[in-house]
Amino acid sequence: MKEQTKVENSTMTGLETMNSAITIFGGSGDLTYRKLLPAMYNLHVLGQLDNNFKIIGLGRRNYTTEDYIEITREWMKDYSRKKYEEQTFNEFAKRIIYFKIDISLESEYSRLQDFYIENNIKKHIYYYAVAPSMFLEITNGLKKYCSDNDAKVIIEKPFGENLENATELNSKLAEFFGQDEIYHIDHYLGKEMIQNILSVRLNNAIFKGIWNKDFIDSVQITAAESVGVETRAGYYDKSGAMKDMVQNHLLQVLSIVAMEEPKGKTMEKEQLALLKSLKKVENVDDNLVMGQYVGYLDEPNIDSQSKTETYVAMKIEIDNERWQGVPFFIRTGKKLATRESQIIVKFKSKNNAPANLLIIKIQPSEGIFLKFNAKKPGTDNDIQEVSMDFCQSCILENRMNTPEAYERLLRACFIGDRILFSKWDQIVASWNYIDNLLNKYKESSSKLYTYEQGSMGPKEANRLTDWILDLE
Ligand SMILES: NC(=O)c1ccc[n+]([C@@H]2O[C@H](COP(=O)([O-])OP(=O)(O)OC[C@H]3O[C@@H](n4cnc5c(N)ncnc54)[C@H](OP(=O)(O)O)[C@@H]3O)[C@@H](O)[C@H]2O)c1
Repeated sequence: MKEQTKVENSTMTGLETMNSAITIFGGSGDLTYRKLLPAMYNLHVLGQLDNNFKIIGLGRRNYTTEDYIEITREWMKDYSRKKYEEQTFNEFAKRIIYFKIDISLESEYSRLQDFYIENNIKKHIYYYAVAPSMFLEITNGLKKYCSDNDAKVIIEKPFGENLENATELNSKLAEFFGQDEIYHIDHYLGKEMIQNILSVRLNNAIFKGIWNKDFIDSVQITAAESVGVETRAGYYDKSGAMKDMVQNHLLQVLSIVAMEEPKGKTMEKEQLALLKSLKKVENVDDNLVMGQYVGYLDEPNIDSQSKTETYVAMKIEIDNERWQGVPFFIRTGKKLATRESQIIVKFKSKNNAPANLLIIKIQPSEGIFLKFNAKKPGTDNDIQEVSMDFCQSCILENRMNTPEAYERLLRACFIGDRILFSKWDQIVASWNYIDNLLNKYKESSSKLYTYEQGSMGPKEANRLTDWILDLE
């Protein structure tokens, strides 16, 4: 399949000469209903899907296509960015097909290929929206029965369970798809404010010149969730916060915040260089605190003895000229007091005044806030902290015009734009760092701490830094 000549054309999907399709493994899953189908509805409304583009949802449930469309209709009412309209949805629904299949059985892929032939579908995007443990089975099934298809694949995180497993998976995928047809999706990279980080860093004299150890004291990257494991218990208990959030999303964010300016080189090379310069952790106690929320063990489908972490706080150091001695704090967790993802850059304090803070809000609110010092009116020289706010998501027009991350990323894959996807060598660098950290954690006497639901995590996390701010 790799050798097959790709048809050149200029439309959005590049797949218009015959029936083309996205096949979603996990078509009846949470991700598909909440993110993928709404994203495709939005693209349909915007006229960005070819007329003959089909959406094939795969699952084990005993649905007909009509059942599946009606379920999708309900999700669309709550989750699509573009307003649900019955007639528009009915047009969109003509693209949708449900195909019942057990994807763990290799022989089932022969039926799937027959279905593609019957429907004259020759160009494919396969979306692996299932647990990572199923990625290999799917690839083997496709390889055996669907290998004459012209195909790309989009793979959800986490990619593998460790470096060894990810490498095996990558080589199997690359045998079938070719490295350039593999799209590792990291939806954080499709978020508006993540894309904005470089603009803010590089296009402002007030930040560009001071983005280094001489002016920056430390950086804090937080992804707090107020929800627990919800319907994702089976997957989450095998993964945990480190593999679900840190290995992929948060290290990607860190790499964009800290990488060198991509002069001449592509952004991905600079991100890779940054990920390779993360200092390997020697003493886990000084660098990592993991926790589990009280009540996790009673959640449905969670092993009652589970040692899976639902919270991670860590201190990362970067071994390069720009960042020598500047700690980067990362923290993420479930069942925390708030849902908020943000980056806080703390500048070095001058004249004992409070440190200036640059706060980049990623979700749910989006914006940039700068805290600085000014004279308190009516006093001789008292200092007060004041702030400048740019609340991007407060502007209705911005909200309406900002594509959801999955919408942006699916469209990018359809047109073959790989910039917004994680690259394999970045994944390797990231696993290298995380594998070492988790091995050190296992060897150490570090405990898995508990924390109350609705708190900001275990109090032991405070030992990593004295300035973890409450989120605003
Ligand atoms: N949910 C999110 O917000 C989110 C965000 C980012 C990344 N992800 C990633 O997306 C992936 C899927 O997550 P999810 O939350 O959507 O999981 P989920 O709700 O548990 O859905 C799992 C899907 O897999 C299907 N499935 C499982 N075993 C199958 C089998 N043997 N044959 C056919 N289908 C099978 C299920 O179909 P049936 O139920 O019909 O059996 C269901 O459609 C994971 O890798 C996760 O890390 C999810």
